Amino acid sequence: MDCCCGVLVRGGSCCSALTLCLLDSWKRAELLKKAAAELREHATHIARVMMDEVAKPYAAAFSEVLRTADLFEYTAEEGVRVSGELQLSDAFPGEKRNKLALVQRVPLGVIVAIPPYNYPLNLAGSKVGPALMAGNSIVMKPPSAGAVTCLLGIGAIMHLAGAPPGLINVVTGKGSEIGDYLTQHRDANAVSFTGGGTGLRVAKGAGMIPLQMELGGKDPALVLPDCNIEKTAAALVKGAFSYSGQRCTAVKVIYMIEKDGELSAKILPLILEGVKKLRVGMPWEDKVDITPVIDGKSAAFIKGLVDDAQAKGAKLELPEGGWKQSGNLIHPVVLTGVTQEMRLMYEEQFGPVLPIVSVPSVEEAIELANASPLGLQASVFTQDIDAAMSISDALQAGTIQINGAPARGPDHFPFQGFKDSGLSSQGVRYSIEKKKKRKKRQRAVVAGREVQHRKRP
Ligand code: G3H
Repeated sequence: MDCCCGVLVRGGSCCSALTLCLLDSWKRAELLKKAAAELREHATHIARVMMDEVAKPYAAAFSEVLRTADLFEYTAEEGVRVSGELQLSDAFPGEKRNKLALVQRVPLGVIVAIPPYNYPLNLAGSKVGPALMAGNSIVMKPPSAGAVTCLLGIGAIMHLAGAPPGLINVVTGKGSEIGDYLTQHRDANAVSFTGGGTGLRVAKGAGMIPLQMELGGKDPALVLPDCNIEKTAAALVKGAFSYSGQRCTAVKVIYMIEKDGELSAKILPLILEGVKKLRVGMPWEDKVDITPVIDGKSAAFIKGLVDDAQAKGAKLELPEGGWKQSGNLIHPVVLTGVTQEMRLMYEEQFGPVLPIVSVPSVEEAIELANASPLGLQASVFTQDIDAAMSISDALQAGTIQINGAPARGPDHFPFQGFKDSGLSSQGVRYSIEKKKKRKKRQRAVVAGREVQHRKRP
């Protein structure tokens, strides 16, 4: 940002790239649509790179590229329709109709975007697309693992689509060095960040600028005795183990509501059966489900959580024969008898581990779930819609899924974390609005005569 790639700087002065801000909205939309077409054209190549970089199964990597192309197209359509409003003074008590306000939404300037490794393209695109349609320029710092995917999928693709130099910038480097530099830079006008534990540091360092933060989850699933057993088991397995549990929206703990183990007796065998069917292997293998976690540090952390739970009395239901790992490839783990003393109850495992807690009442499950400092999403499985509605009222999370596993998408839905899980909403329109600010032009008006409608003959 020292070379002035921004628009309106924090200090209030303008820089030479002001013209970027003036790139017409329809031109920005065209640019995004072209980028979507380029993504589709190069989907196979980008997916392979993503697979190699972050060990995402090829099919999931490929679908992430297409999801991002869809996101760009939707954002282009939505972005041209986000405009301002006109207000008249006589709406407020005691006021005459003698003032009007033209409320415009103007770009913030330079958006610093920091996506995570687990969606190196889609979560990059969900920051870049809306920021662009809101009229901003972007400086993106890709995750260290996933940097090549970002360089190709955002940097090169935007270049191919015809983005003018300086509009979208990709700067690689370590988060602790370059990430801090960018988020604390006085030319940064907003930060859009997705990541784990460093969120608070980013927020403190960035200071008084708009922040959009997605900071992890410990999404609880509350399973009631009257749930649809087969569908619930399938949703839990998929929710916990997709991309080897490395999703902020993964099911990270199940609260089985039961007094006598009756519910577990029915549903646990189905969960275990589903988990046993998951194919463990390398990301390029056909129809693989569980692939290596991102690095050795992460694998060691996950093992530490499981060891701690077992040492404190949890029962390892899977893998049969005990913990199984080769390199960073961890075979899926299901633990029952998990209790509050165990780290797994509240620490985010971000790996293929599903802890199950038995609780005697819904009230207790809500209390335990709400005791987590995180509040991204939660799910409730029951066929009693009234119970589902009142439980979701009580749960402190940004999204409550009823009879479904947590998920961020569809990408135009609002997506927000409560508590330490984040700040502000994502979702196409919400993200565009977040990256603009309101500017008002107010003027006195002479109250005119009402236009008389022509009488119908
Ligand atoms: O890891 C965080 C992502 O926002 C989760 O996205 O629900 O589409 O997997 P997802």
